[in-house]
Formats: sequence, structure tokens, C-alpha cells
Amino acid sequence: MDIILLGPPGAGKGTQAHRLVEKYSMVQLSTGDMLRAAVKAGTPVGLQAKAVMEAGELVSDDIVSALICDALDALDEGTGVIFDGYPRTAPQAHSLDTILSDRGRVLDHVIELEVNEEALIDRITGRFTCANCGAGYHDRYKLPEMEGTCDRCGSTEFKRRKDDNAETVRQRMVEYRAKTAPILPIYEERDVVTRVDGMDDMDSVTESLVKVVEG
Ligand code: AP5
Repeated sequence: MDIILLGPPGAGKGTQAHRLVEKYSMVQLSTGDMLRAAVKAGTPVGLQAKAVMEAGELVSDDIVSALICDALDALDEGTGVIFDGYPRTAPQAHSLDTILSDRGRVLDHVIELEVNEEALIDRITGRFTCANCGAGYHDRYKLPEMEGTCDRCGSTEFKRRKDDNAETVRQRMVEYRAKTAPILPIYEERDVVTRVDGMDDMDSVTESLVKVVEG
């Protein structure tokens, strides 16, 4: 099964993708994570992407579609994918059609996490992750059970994303409204879109997603 998770920055795409990966034998392909890894490694892609990401703008369609191709080609046959943060523009949506059909894959669901954008600034500016295993936390909504220690791996090192400040988040929202939200009609025409209330608590959102996946 292949699924796209759509929603503005902070809607909970990454949080829910991790939960679905734990529940089903699927993989999460997050172009944001791939780009951050490229920036950290100082690859040519990372060098091109760094300033664009820090400004809250979108990296070029060709770069992200190439990342997705490489990631899909590295998967074992039959592995289902959750696309998190891709596609984000109409050209990326059209590229994905070709990328999937060239590999004999079919898009089963596009799930839009519906959210109140005002609440998202608070969600994003409070976000931090374990520097060792990447487990996600939030200053108010999800603190580690033992203060300062990761629940999953026990690390005491945490990090925050450079683009998680209020000014950059606002620019990321502008990009979402202008370039990403307009791709929804492409999928609505194909009758594969389901809307889920992303303002519910995390467990309720997961339950709604499971209902979609299990039909
Ligand atoms: P990317 O990494 O994809 O960021 P994003 O889309 O802005 O999404 P986020 O990761 O910020 O949010 P999320 O929806 O995953 O929320 P999360 O689950 O973490 O992209 C970053 C940049 O890379 C882009 O700006 C662009 O420059 C570039 N890029 C990436 N892909 C690209 C592409 N395809 N084309 C071009 N450029 C691209 O949740 C947020 C917080 O809220 C967490 O702390 C979480 O604990 C909390 N939370 C989650 N759900 C709930 C809930 N239900 N209730 C309360 N709190 C919650």
C-alpha cells in the first residue's frame, strides 16, 4: 500500500507516519528528513538545499523527485510507502505519477490532516527530537517520561530544527497554501482523498488513520 500524508507544517505528518510504520510493515519516505541528512553530510544536494530550507522555501522539484526515486529503488519489493512531505507542488505530483507507474506501484490513499494553522506555530516552536534516535517530543504535548532522557533510547541529547522558528514557519505556511494545497484537486478527481481531523489528540488521529488504511 502506498499513501501520501498531506498537511501544512506541524500538522503531524511525521508523528503519524512513525506510528503507521510501527504498526504496519511500511516505510516512511520524508523528503524533509532526506534533505536534512544531505545538509548534515554536506553533499552537493545539501549545499543547494540548506539556505532554501532555512528561509522556509521549497527546494527544487528535480532534486526532491530524484531523492524519492533513489529511495524507492532501494526498497525491498512489495514494501508499502508513506510519503511524508512529498509531493508538495503540481510538478512533483505529476512526477510521482510517473515514478510510481514506472515501478508498477499504485497510490492507494491521500490523507489530508486538517488543522487550524494558528495552533501550528505553537506545535512547531515547541518541537524537539532526540539527537540520537530521532524520537519526537514537544515542550507541552509530549515530554519525555523522565525529564531530559529519551524514552526510546535513553540519550540525554536533544535538538531543535533551525527552521522551527515562528518567522520561518509562517513562510513555510505561505508556501503550503500557494503550492501544496492546490494539488489536492488532482487527487480528489481520482477519489483517493480522505480528510482526517489533525487537531484531535495524537492517539485519536492515529485511530482515524488506521481506519482509512484498514478500510
Ligand atoms: P519537512 O521536514 O517536510 O517539514 P514540514 O512539512 O514543514 O513538516 P513538519 O516536519 O514541520 O511537520 P509535521 O507535519 O511532520 O509535524 P510533526 O509530526 O513533526 O520540510 C522541511 C523543509 O524541507 C521545507 O520547508 C522545504 O524547504 C524542504 N522540503 C521538504 N520536502 C520538500 C519537497 N517535497 N519539495 C520541496 N522542498 C521540500 O508535529 C509537529 C509537532 O506537533 C511535534 O512536536 C509533535 O509532537 C506535535 N504534534 C503532532 N501531532 C499532534 C497532535 N495531534 N496534538 C498535539 N501535538 C501534536
